[in-house]
Amino acid sequence: MKFFLDTADLDDLESIAAFGILDGVTTNPTLMAKAGVRGDDAVRARYRALCEIVDGDVSAEVISTDFAGMMREAQTLAALDPRIVVKIPMLADGVRALHALREQGIRTNCTLVFSAAQALLAAKAGASYVSPFIGRLDDVAEPGVGLIRLLVRMFGNYSFDCAILAASIRSPRHVVQCAQAGADVATCPRTVFEAMFQHPLTDAGLQKFLQNHAAGN
Ligand code: G3P
Repeated sequence: MKFFLDTADLDDLESIAAFGILDGVTTNPTLMAKAGVRGDDAVRARYRALCEIVDGDVSAEVISTDFAGMMREAQTLAALDPRIVVKIPMLADGVRALHALREQGIRTNCTLVFSAAQALLAAKAGASYVSPFIGRLDDVAEPGVGLIRLLVRMFGNYSFDCAILAASIRSPRHVVQCAQAGADVATCPRTVFEAMFQHPLTDAGLQKFLQNHAAGN
């Protein structure tokens, strides 16, 4: 399973990349705003900076919601760096753009996916990644991980060349459940990666070892 960091913050990225466990980055307009990055030039500069830190795919999201606008933005974003994967929202025009961008050799990540039918359309249109938002499904009492299980089965039936990127991950439990289900990628915020290291028995065990070592010296 690949690990991506869900952030536009360079400190977050540097800190998690240092562990040597990162395969890529996902961003979105909310994360850009949260990182204080505003304006087209600043956003593009931030994508370049993210690409310099991580040796893997970096998802960059379009703002347009019409076909022509998405195509224009996608071409500009893809030209920034070979690592860029263009994030296209799940819309009718978005599906058209996924197909047209595939024809042009531009890799895409279909975002805001909440159903198996939407994922099927994105994969069929040629998306490189599909991003089901599992935490937001849980928020409305629909089982997010259930959608991941369904997509793994469905894509396997047809050997679609489209990776399942589990997004909107809120906890280490989500990550483990996505791994059990067979998701190709989990994109997590820094807090989730940091929580994955933790277990109270590790802390207690280490404390005991160190106490015993000190007592024996
Ligand atoms: O990158 C998209 C996704 O991970 C957003 O997560 O926590 O805002 O639902 P969240």
